[in-house]
Amino acid sequence: MNSRVAFHIVWVVSTLIVVAYGLGMVEYGFAIWEGRLPRALDAMALAMSPDMVWGRNGYPDWVTPLYALFERNRLAMTAHILAGSAVLVLGFTQFVPPLRRRWPRVHRTVGFVVLLSMVITLVGATVRLAAEPAELTYSGPGFDVVLWYLSVIGILTLSQAVIALVRRDYRQHMVWMALAWAAFLTAPSLRVNTSALFWLYGGLHEHANFAAGAMALVETGLLMLLWLRFVGEPDLPARGPQATRWPRWMLSAMAVCAAAMAMHEGVLAPLGADAFAGLRGELGTLPLTAIPWGLATAGAALGGVRALEGSLEGRTPAGWWHITVALAGLGALGVAATTPAGGLLTQPVNAVFLTLGITSIALLLGSLRGGVNTLERRPWSVTLAFFTWAPSVLVLGAALGLMFGLTADELYVVGLVLGPTTMSLLGICTANAAVVRLGLTRSERPGRLVSSPGR
Ligand code: HEM
Repeated sequence: MNSRVAFHIVWVVSTLIVVAYGLGMVEYGFAIWEGRLPRALDAMALAMSPDMVWGRNGYPDWVTPLYALFERNRLAMTAHILAGSAVLVLGFTQFVPPLRRRWPRVHRTVGFVVLLSMVITLVGATVRLAAEPAELTYSGPGFDVVLWYLSVIGILTLSQAVIALVRRDYRQHMVWMALAWAAFLTAPSLRVNTSALFWLYGGLHEHANFAAGAMALVETGLLMLLWLRFVGEPDLPARGPQATRWPRWMLSAMAVCAAAMAMHEGVLAPLGADAFAGLRGELGTLPLTAIPWGLATAGAALGGVRALEGSLEGRTPAGWWHITVALAGLGALGVAATTPAGGLLTQPVNAVFLTLGITSIALLLGSLRGGVNTLERRPWSVTLAFFTWAPSVLVLGAALGLMFGLTADELYVVGLVLGPTTMSLLGICTANAAVVRLGLTRSERPGRLVSSPGR
């Protein structure tokens, strides 16, 4: 099947899920306001297990403490959920270029409503996060850090989209809005992933929920990378250089840090030469099966700088780099298959390796399929180069976790979870030349909002 057709099928199916979820959540918002349990719990009981939802037959009761927390933050949560529903039900229309070209006023009016709803959703989420201690967040304090991270990504991408709009730089507006939409799409993708992981691994809902959080933004980011490639780019092509440039020292530092982390966590620690042995908790180290992943990831990360620079200049990355990436992807799947499933923190570790494996292989296939055509190949190979540096974020994640007073195990898991997410977002920004701007000066050469350049 032609990849453009395949993308459109995936896009339509995911949009239907997003709109259905958004509509379903309207009742949820009113239920929180009225202080009763939402009907969505019945749907969840049907989709997963009544015992799990109602805390019977060995399952703990998570509904009582969670809804007590929502009760304490009733205004913030009601505003969050109702505005979030409006975003999901209306937002997709902004990503249909023929609608925008034909009815530009509708695009502007609906765009204003969606933008306002996005701001309310983010304010509600941030107020709720700030109001309660991290330990009370469902799925624990590590998940609280992940939710803070998602709020910050939402605020950053949305503010950049607004700045670009004021500057009349519509190309940048489109790219940042695609990324903001990816952040909002995590709401339905998190719930779909949770049900899938619950069925796959069994166990407790809070474990599946944290694991699903490890995958959500990578998944929705990749969906928007596809949208930018097949819909956005042809509609509003970039005018100048098509990829953000980074200082070489920064790329090299990320590559060396990723290689060092992959070697330590994947090879040295499982063999007993563990520099952090005294710090680790119950999670322990990765199993010996992580050795192929560690070695291949170190090679792929170090080769990533040249591969990225080559991709940006229209050259095909070296064959050996593709081989290391393929081995790293397969190695990650091997780790996911052999790490014991079950605990609150082991499930996200599993999910991170599953995400690393599936995403690396998917990006690699996309990049090989593009052959010598630069435009076809670049989005995938640029994102892939960044993706090989996911282990470098362990350091940043651990530092973030320290600020929240997390345990050593939680620090480790948060660092692992934020790696693929951060690197896929940086890759998508780079491949689409997203530029961070602080000033509101209008662009000298405004992009076109309503006309299609045709190609
Ligand atoms: C970047 C966007 C978003 C962020 C950062 C975010 C963040 C949050 C946070 C912090 C909570 C509280 C979790 C807890 O107390 O355990 C929450 C809960 C919730 N959010 Fe969002 N959210 C976002 C988008 C959305 C959207 C678009 C919807 C669509 C309706 C939505 C629906 C909900 C619902 C229904 C809950 C209640 C808890 C649940 O059923 O899991 N959120 N969100």
